[in-house]
Amino acid sequence: MISISISISISLAILLLLNPTASEQDHVKLSLINFLQKLSRNDTGITEKLSWNTSTDPCSGNWTGISCNNKNKSIRGITLEGLLLNGSIDATLACTAPSLAVLSLRDNLLHGQLPLEISSCSQLTHLFLSGNRLSGELPLEISELNNLKRLDISNNNFSGDIPSGLTTISGLFNISNNLFSGRIPPDAAQFGNESFSGNSGLCGLPLAVACAPAASP
Ligand SMILES: *[C@@H]1O[C@H](CO)[C@@H](O)[C@H](O)[C@H]1NC(C)=O
Ligand SMILES: *[C@@H]1O[C@H](CO)[C@@H](O)[C@H](O)[C@H]1NC(C)=O
Ligand SMILES: *[C@@H]1O[C@H](CO)[C@@H](O)[C@H](O)[C@H]1NC(C)=O
Ligand SMILES: *[C@@H]1O[C@H](CO)[C@@H](O)[C@H](O)[C@H]1NC(C)=O
Ligand SMILES: *[C@@H]1O[C@H](CO)[C@@H](O)[C@H](O)[C@H]1NC(C)=O
Ligand SMILES: *[C@@H]1O[C@H](CO)[C@@H](O)[C@H](O)[C@H]1NC(C)=O
Ligand SMILES: *[C@@H]1O[C@H](CO)[C@@H](O)[C@H](O)[C@H]1NC(C)=O
Ligand SMILES: *[C@@H]1O[C@H](CO)[C@@H](O)[C@H](O)[C@H]1NC(C)=O
Repeated sequence: MISISISISISLAILLLLNPTASEQDHVKLSLINFLQKLSRNDTGITEKLSWNTSTDPCSGNWTGISCNNKNKSIRGITLEGLLLNGSIDATLACTAPSLAVLSLRDNLLHGQLPLEISSCSQLTHLFLSGNRLSGELPLEISELNNLKRLDISNNNFSGDIPSGLTTISGLFNISNNLFSGRIPPDAAQFGNESFSGNSGLCGLPLAVACAPAASP
């Protein structure tokens, strides 16, 4: 584990020494490799297995799970599904890819929270995290993702209130099978009840469970 992070630090140092004007792409590559290492809990073999290597380009070098915009060769998506990843999400590292639109980490063993830094992925349109062991409250900052169209965080252990202001989601919105509680905010009520099922603490439309009237002072 330590040797990997040392070797990354050394590669970074070498990059900076040899090329004082190292392009942002080098910085992005290192950040994404670090992101993958945190996702995998420092699994030393994972970067090689997926061919994520600073000596190749993520878009033309066949980095497994990376998809790119054809025209400008910028990273468009990170899709790492069903890989038994059992670490955690460092959103700051993922969001260094400035054009990132799709982040899918479905069906792994990820734990910890969804960090509020996810809001710095300003181009994000699709966020798929279903089928992990994520927990804690959703960061309110998630509603700052003004381009978000699809959100699927079903089958995790998220808890607390559903943030309001998730108004740009036009398609899939799925928070089923978590530990959410409280009143469903009015701007989320447009989604079908299947989006909310399996959260025994939720109340209000579109569920058939009415919320208890607020206690009078
Ligand atoms: C992964 O490695 C880093 C750097 O060596 C260390 O700080 C971190 O605690 C490790 N994480 C895990 C989950 O082992
Ligand atoms: C990256 O690729 C180069 C050339 O194929 C190889 O020599 C090197 O060991 C690789 N680095 C890692 C960390 O896999
Ligand atoms: C990427 O994969 C394609 C098809 O498998 C192959 O033709 C190409 O040589 C690979 N590129 C690199 C840089 O490994
Ligand atoms: C690359 O092109 C895509 C789609 O055309 C666009 O969304 C993105 O902002 C562009 N990225 C850069 C760095 O120019
Ligand atoms: C996480 O996965 C790695 C590699 O797949 C494994 O060695 C490690 O035991 C797992 N850790 C936990 C806590 O499940
Ligand atoms: C959620 O938490 C409960 C209680 O700690 C645990 O039994 C369950 O396995 C967790 N589910 C997931 C998907 O992590
Ligand atoms: C939400 O996710 C659950 C579990 O993955 C699935 O059974 C359900 O059909 C999904 N609901 C919608 C509206 O997509
Ligand atoms: C969801 O809505 C359908 C159709 O209105 C209804 O039959 C079903 O009982 C509802 N399920 C829940 C969990 O509220």
